[in-house]
Amino acid sequence: MPTVSVNVARSSENYDIEIGGGTHERVGASLRQAASAHLRRVALVSNKRVFKLYGAAVETSLTQARFSVTTVFIGDGERFKTWRTAEKVLTQVAQAKLERSDAIVALGGGVVGDLAGFVASLYLRGITFVNLPTTLLAQIDSSVGGKTGVNTAHGKNSTGTFHHPRRVLIDTATLRTLSRRDAVAGWCEAIKQGAIGGIELFEMTRNYLRDAGDADNAGGAALSPKSEQESARLSNLLAAHVAFKADIVANDERENIERDDHRSRRILNFGHTVAHALEAVTAYRRFRHGEAVGYGMLAAAEISTRLNLLPETDLQTLRSCIALAGNLPPAADVDTEAVMSRLKFDKKSVGGTLKWVLLKQLGVPQIVDETDVPRHIIKAGIHSSLNASAVPALTS
Ligand SMILES: NC(=O)c1ccc[n+]([C@@H]2O[C@H](COP(=O)([O-])OP(=O)(O)OC[C@H]3O[C@@H](n4cnc5c(N)ncnc54)[C@H](O)[C@@H]3O)[C@@H](O)[C@H]2O)c1
Ligand SMILES: [Zn+2]
Repeated sequence: MPTVSVNVARSSENYDIEIGGGTHERVGASLRQAASAHLRRVALVSNKRVFKLYGAAVETSLTQARFSVTTVFIGDGERFKTWRTAEKVLTQVAQAKLERSDAIVALGGGVVGDLAGFVASLYLRGITFVNLPTTLLAQIDSSVGGKTGVNTAHGKNSTGTFHHPRRVLIDTATLRTLSRRDAVAGWCEAIKQGAIGGIELFEMTRNYLRDAGDADNAGGAALSPKSEQESARLSNLLAAHVAFKADIVANDERENIERDDHRSRRILNFGHTVAHALEAVTAYRRFRHGEAVGYGMLAAAEISTRLNLLPETDLQTLRSCIALAGNLPPAADVDTEAVMSRLKFDKKSVGGTLKWVLLKQLGVPQIVDETDVPRHIIKAGIHSSLNASAVPALTS
């Protein structure tokens, strides 16, 4: 079973990420091994949909390891990632009498993980946090790196903390039940990591999608391995993604705003400048975040090619890889100008200027100041990506 170690500045906070089919059966034992000997109580934070599927196994594993478990439910969806929910969870954690040596365990996608991690960082000024991510996006991206937070009236993820988990257990078996759209969204983030992480990671992801997907279900099919061998291949792919993100985080734990080199945490924002704008102009209703990243990557790559930074062949390869992930909801009717005018709201803009994460080649990012990207090129890049013929219309 692959294990990836995440090294952070304070070495006592280093943690392991275990990846494989069935890791949830080991949650109790793993927590016994990783956490304080005084740990007695666990608050298991989840939503009802995920808990119904995977809660019993996790609860059994925790109680078998002699932890006293209180289950805390939050609503399902991004709109529940709020202060109000965090406050409710804090109240229930206090009512369950968790002490400083106790732990919060998150079971769910990025929403549950971000919110539960946030609460774990606040309660008694910070208690042990363990993450059991159950979406592809959460397994390769949000569960690695210690960012927690909630959305507020001032923006998505506008309030949060850095609070590293003590342990992350990725159970690949949970991915079978993911909706097709959540699978596509997760694959888009995986393609993003490949596009900036190196050609090996990109090729590994693309080859996996090509071999394991099928025409109808595309990326969704790739998450239901049909043999031990396929399952091991999926675990290894996820481990490579986790290792990539862990490496970036180890280099730039707090996303230093002064940095704009090709190994800074900021490169993870590839595809996100346009994605955030696209999500905003469609009122966060039309696209899953990862789907918007699919379009955002295409836009950033189109811009890169128009600046003579990225070869046309690499742009084509990226396009066909995104198509392998599955269909994105159509975006041709979205007004390019409206997307353009939202760009400046991107929270990653520093000192009032926006930094574009572009590509020099597949696997090699380059951060470019907005003053070096002419407006007509941005406009043409966005327009072309929203009308990309390689992204077929949503069929279901
Ligand atoms: N902390 C970070 O570094 C970081 C990075 C990227 C994204 N994020 C955050 O992650 C969130 C998005 O996460 P997400 O895409 O996982 O969304 P999500 O948590 O809303 O999950 C998507 C849907 O899938 C369901 N679900 C979860 N696991 C399932 C399973 N195994 N089977 C069936 N259904 C399942 C959920 O209940 C939900 O309805 C956003 O809030 C984003 O801001 C955080
Ligand atoms: Zn993202």
